[in-house]
Amino acid sequence: MSCSVTLKNVKAKIGDKILFENLNLNLSHKEKIAIIGQNGCGKSTLLEIIGGLKMPLEGSVEIFHEPMKSLDDFRKYRNLLGFLFQNSDDQFIAPSVIEDVAFSLLAKGASNDEARKRAEFMLGELGILHLKNEIVFYLSGGQKKLVALAGVLIAQPKILLLDEPTTALDYEMQIKVANILESLDIAQIIVSHDKEFINKVVDKVYFLTKDGLNLEA
Ligand SMILES: Nc1ncnc2c1ncn2[C@@H]1O[C@H](COP(=O)(O)OP(=O)(O)OP(=O)(O)O)[C@@H](O)[C@H]1O
Ligand SMILES: [Mg+2]
Repeated sequence: MSCSVTLKNVKAKIGDKILFENLNLNLSHKEKIAIIGQNGCGKSTLLEIIGGLKMPLEGSVEIFHEPMKSLDDFRKYRNLLGFLFQNSDDQFIAPSVIEDVAFSLLAKGASNDEARKRAEFMLGELGILHLKNEIVFYLSGGQKKLVALAGVLIAQPKILLLDEPTTALDYEMQIKVANILESLDIAQIIVSHDKEFINKVVDKVYFLTKDGLNLEA
């Protein structure tokens, strides 16, 4: 089986507390899964481990079959891994919406015109083009989430890691985001408490406990 993410016997600890251990996952190419679980059980921590922001205490992480032995190893996959943070303020890099969404394209060498055009298109897809000249930090919670998502999707990642993508979104926006994610034929790991949303987008739902990921019946 061709896997985009493989986790073997992963253990994570914060302070003295073991969050989870013996956690295994084989995420196949283009598979979409959701991870649910109680507040504080370690869902965000697990996404950070998969996204190369934190190393596990034990166990291994492979991205496209390549073992990630240090955070440095993730560097070559940065453009392929799209990470939406639980807290949108952690995501922003530039002050204005359009600059922030265009940032990854400019960093990859796109011209100003090209980056701006594609950023405007992405904002349009999410129905928030009217926000393009706003200052990101003055947006509402839901608007921030959508701008952050536009910044992630514009980079055309091959693996999407989404931490609570629908918090603060109104119902219409939840449907719009679900439709966009459903239409993207790439691997996705979605952490969410929103069952209606995840049932619309993903193939499998896992429940995270101290003993790892358990498939929901
Ligand atoms: N930087 C940190 N310093 C200290 N404790 C932390 C830190 N980050 C996370 N924790 C703790 O680790 C545990 C797991 O946190 P995590 O954010 O991964 O949980 P979660 O499942 O995403 O929760 P939620 O559903 O509330 O988002 C929590 O008890 C949290 O307090
Ligand atoms: Mg969390």
